[in-house]
Amino acid sequence: MRDDHGVSAQRIGREKEFQQIQICLELGKNLLLEGPVGVGKTFLAAQSAAVLRKEVIRIDGDGRFTEQKLSGWFDPQTVLKKGYVKEAFMKGPLLQAMETGGVFLINELNRLPEGVQNILLSALDEGVVFVPQYGLVQAKDGFGVIATQNPKEFVGATQLSEAILDRFELIRLDYQSETEELQIVHNALKEQKSMKIDEVTGLAVKLARLTREDSRVHRGASIRASLAVAALLSAFLKRGTSLDEAFLQSALMALPTRIEFDPSEGEFDAIQASEVIQDWVNEVLKKKT
Ligand SMILES: Nc1ncnc2c1ncn2[C@@H]1O[C@H](COP(=O)(O)OP(=O)(O)OP(=O)(O)O)[C@@H](O)[C@H]1O
Ligand SMILES: [Mg+2]
Repeated sequence: MRDDHGVSAQRIGREKEFQQIQICLELGKNLLLEGPVGVGKTFLAAQSAAVLRKEVIRIDGDGRFTEQKLSGWFDPQTVLKKGYVKEAFMKGPLLQAMETGGVFLINELNRLPEGVQNILLSALDEGVVFVPQYGLVQAKDGFGVIATQNPKEFVGATQLSEAILDRFELIRLDYQSETEELQIVHNALKEQKSMKIDEVTGLAVKLARLTREDSRVHRGASIRASLAVAALLSAFLKRGTSLDEAFLQSALMALPTRIEFDPSEGEFDAIQASEVIQDWVNEVLKKKT
């Protein structure tokens, strides 16, 4: 998949991490970005690559990923006609990135099946991959891998093998400061020509940050959630909905999918979750006045 991964947005903060990523890319080192969902891993990786004018080829790790999907496959029709010739080979994203000397961005590396991770080992340290019937592929200079993963305690995440970890430098990303989050949301709203930008920004960011402080919450709302609340809120306001009502509706739409309650606090059904969200909304609105 090729797109700009939102890199056109202005980067706020993360100077230290940005420099660390640049250094890794310049040295041809592979980089593992670890941090909670929606904290800015993909954005930062894509921006760093763009600054170095490197092409980014991205995959999203999931349990159904196969070796063929990663490195490539032979088109059966052409093989029938011509045999295992080079032109019958459909290059997968790994080979494409290696051949252009670009950045191979693997979102959620830890969700790739272990067998598929193992294929990466030689690409990671020697820049080579062996494809049966096709041969040895050597990466062009500049090729590098940036992988992301959510910390282990999050659902569905497995631990990476020692062999794979040994081939990565690590950068941990945590949530940004309130000032930086306000700036990110503010910029996005300006882009959308939102009404009441300052107020909408304040509400969305306060709400997201409140979810993270709540002990009942296992995974709080990220900057992505703040952006979503802000965009919805702004759209409701444009249609004439009152601020309080618009904020509640936006929160109820944006948060349930983006937060996870702590299982040790018991089961939270949809109704209980809505009640908690409503309490947060009230608290933020109260704080505002
Ligand atoms: N430092 C920043 N400056 C400006 N915008 C940012 C920054 N960090 C994150 N964002 C915005 O937040 C959004 C979410 O970030 P991103 O998608 O990179 O998170 P992620 O950590 O990759 O999430 P996931 O774990 O779900 O893959 C981005 O689309 C981007 O618009
Ligand atoms: Mg991401």
